[in-house]
Amino acid sequence: MKLLEPMMYTKVLMIIVAIWFAPIIYGQEAEAPIGDVAEAPGTDSLDTAWYDARATFYGDIHGGETQQGACGYGNLFKQGYGLATAALSTALFNDGYTCGACYEIMCVNAPQWCLPGSIKITATNFCPPNYTKTHDIWCNPPQKHFDLSQPMFLKIAQYRAGVVPVKYRRIPCVKRGGVRFETTGNPYFLMILPYNVGGAGDIKAVQVKGNKTGWIAMSKNWGQHWTTNVVLTGQQLSFRVTTSDGVTKDFINVAPKTWGFGQTFDGRINF
Ligand SMILES: *[C@@H]1O[C@H](CO)[C@@H](O)[C@H](O)[C@H]1NC(C)=O
Ligand SMILES: *[C@@H]1O[C@H](CO)[C@@H](O)[C@H](O)[C@H]1NC(C)=O
Repeated sequence: MKLLEPMMYTKVLMIIVAIWFAPIIYGQEAEAPIGDVAEAPGTDSLDTAWYDARATFYGDIHGGETQQGACGYGNLFKQGYGLATAALSTALFNDGYTCGACYEIMCVNAPQWCLPGSIKITATNFCPPNYTKTHDIWCNPPQKHFDLSQPMFLKIAQYRAGVVPVKYRRIPCVKRGGVRFETTGNPYFLMILPYNVGGAGDIKAVQVKGNKTGWIAMSKNWGQHWTTNVVLTGQQLSFRVTTSDGVTKDFINVAPKTWGFGQTFDGRINF
């Protein structure tokens, strides 16, 4: 019984020490990173296994109807996505978090319709469910479905097929130049659209920093629009972006203090 007291003493002391040091250690971790920050490798790494789905197409041969989709991207040609895009069904869209992800897709198990080879596309739109339909309900949950731009569909299947079974897998996105940041909204509701994102391509967190503020977590609004109601006009802006595979990169002083709404800024680096 006599031993108990010193043991408890030690325990209490250890707890006090732990409480004392924890914020210091975490505080340093939060302050230190400038530049590239990688989390422990492999934590959320991209699942590149092949899965089954179906594919259809929408829009015309020039990609009409594929622009300005539910991800919030605008002119897909100006933004670098071009015609290599698809709208995802509810099961794949994940409320817009999957926007920007890249996929390799090939037609399978329909020899009368399938063409050899595969395509690589970026998710830029949503294929909405339609619960009043009783047939051809491809985009209803829980089905995994790619509604491809017509030119992409015609690379893997014949037009007359209409719908084909496919195999798909996630692939790293290869983008030219830096991540771009588009500003919209107003001083009290800043919306940022990051696009042309390489690496995993889809984003799970965005933070913004004015040069007079610390890092501010942004919340995802619709599609890939991230918002804050902290007023940041008149300050240089930096962004900290984390992709779905857990990789975080800092884009420092991307927008000058004279930035305005409806402008696009080059993040200079990419994933
Ligand atoms: C849903 O399907 C029904 C039946 O085919 C159709 O009349 C309706 O226009 C569709 N709704 C949408 C939003 O596409
Ligand atoms: C923020 O940026 C502005 C404009 O470049 C500069 O005048 C100001 O000194 C900067 N403030 C801080 C705290 O770095």
